[in-house]
Amino acid sequence: MPADTLSITDNRTGKSYEIPISQGAIKATDLRQIRTDAEDFGLMTYDPAFMNTASTRSAITYLDGDRGILRYRGYPIEQLAENSTYLETAYLILFGELPNAQQLADWDFEITHHTFLHENTKRLMEAFRYDAHPMGMFISVVAALSTFYPEASQIGDADNRLLQIKRLIAKVPTIAAFSYRHSLGRPIVYPDNDLSFPGNFLNMMFRMAEAKYQSNPVLERALDVLFILHADHEQNCSTNAMRAIGSSQVDPYSALAGAAAALYGPLHGGANEAVLRMLHQIGSKANVPAFIDKVKQGDGRLMGFGHRVYKNYDPRAKIIKRTADEVFEITGRNPLLDIALELERIALEDDYFVSRKLYPNVDFYSGIIYQAMKLPTSMFPVLFAIPRTVGWLTQWAEMLADPDQKIARPRQIYTGPEARDYLPMGKR
Ligand code: CMC
Repeated sequence: MPADTLSITDNRTGKSYEIPISQGAIKATDLRQIRTDAEDFGLMTYDPAFMNTASTRSAITYLDGDRGILRYRGYPIEQLAENSTYLETAYLILFGELPNAQQLADWDFEITHHTFLHENTKRLMEAFRYDAHPMGMFISVVAALSTFYPEASQIGDADNRLLQIKRLIAKVPTIAAFSYRHSLGRPIVYPDNDLSFPGNFLNMMFRMAEAKYQSNPVLERALDVLFILHADHEQNCSTNAMRAIGSSQVDPYSALAGAAAALYGPLHGGANEAVLRMLHQIGSKANVPAFIDKVKQGDGRLMGFGHRVYKNYDPRAKIIKRTADEVFEITGRNPLLDIALELERIALEDDYFVSRKLYPNVDFYSGIIYQAMKLPTSMFPVLFAIPRTVGWLTQWAEMLADPDQKIARPRQIYTGPEARDYLPMGKR
């Protein structure tokens, strides 16, 4: 019977070691026993960007990048996008099971009744310049919330943790919408408890003089589907940031502000904004081949293409493409779609992209939909942060409950100078 172990011979010393293999992994700390002598620190692995290192065990999201599979708590993303709502999916992600009717009604009520912000938060937002990027405002206001809820630092108290989680899920759309209204100099619109989660968000974004805001049900549903698709994505850059910051036992508002900052970057949640800029820059279908050539020569990237984990079509991109058709029936066709379709067509036939397994990712079409819904480009990363909040918080709570976890603190391989004496100014 084959053993679940790895035999290693260290050719420096001739010694052999048996290392246990569990769930397809070895423990990096098991390598520390491999030393050349008593002074040696022990063998480490070198893995910048965590290309082949599992930082945690997790029961939340399953992702198979080669087969294009994404599941939350075992449920395929396609079925959730078809049948669920964002709030129900958020419950599933957080608690691990789909809610029954009563649980869903209670959850809905709780989230709806935490949507208001302290009035001082509004004044804090007014201090930003008129052209402040809404993501910069979002990150700052989320961090500031830790000062409004100082009890959030009691992260060991499960009830308290859950209260902060509900507050955050409920308040992020309000922060997002307020920052958008600020950028336009429009009065803010308070939450409307009669509306659904996406309906209320659209209300806070777009309501003007009307007594009651009524969003188009197709657009409201499309936004909800986009929220479902973005709710979690296992150990991505921002989730890793959430876990790393949270591992210092800071409150969830501060940790989530850090996660949102990681999301802001153009290689992560800022990519949908970058896709739109790229499509505008290309300008027309006729310019697509020349743009592809530039990318192949290393001049820029095809934004919205490629993924660290998906080496097949991103399943979220497939669903989004369908959602786009439904949205365009209401809004009219976004002319950028033709450029995007042409880019996709050429890239999927081109050996550069095929050999590197570069396929459209979630961000390739989401920006075009958001734009058709009159959601401005600068809001795109914020629109990603709203639903990802439940993912970040669930991963944070899982990390806190995991006895294997400690403060995140990688090792390094030092490559700087040996010890040397300080030189007085005259001798340098
Ligand atoms: N356009 C052109 N070439 C690319 C692209 C791209 N979008 N992505 C990767 N490559 C090339 C890259 O130049 C490299 O080529 P070579 O082997 O010749 O040096 C090869 O493909 C492998 O790339 P990599 O940078 O080692 O791959 P990675 O796993 O580190 O990067 C990525 C993943 C998502 C950062 C990258 O594909 C990228 O920059 N894509 C564009 C930005 C984007 O759309 N990001 C959104 C990601 S999905 C939403 C989310 O979850 O955040």
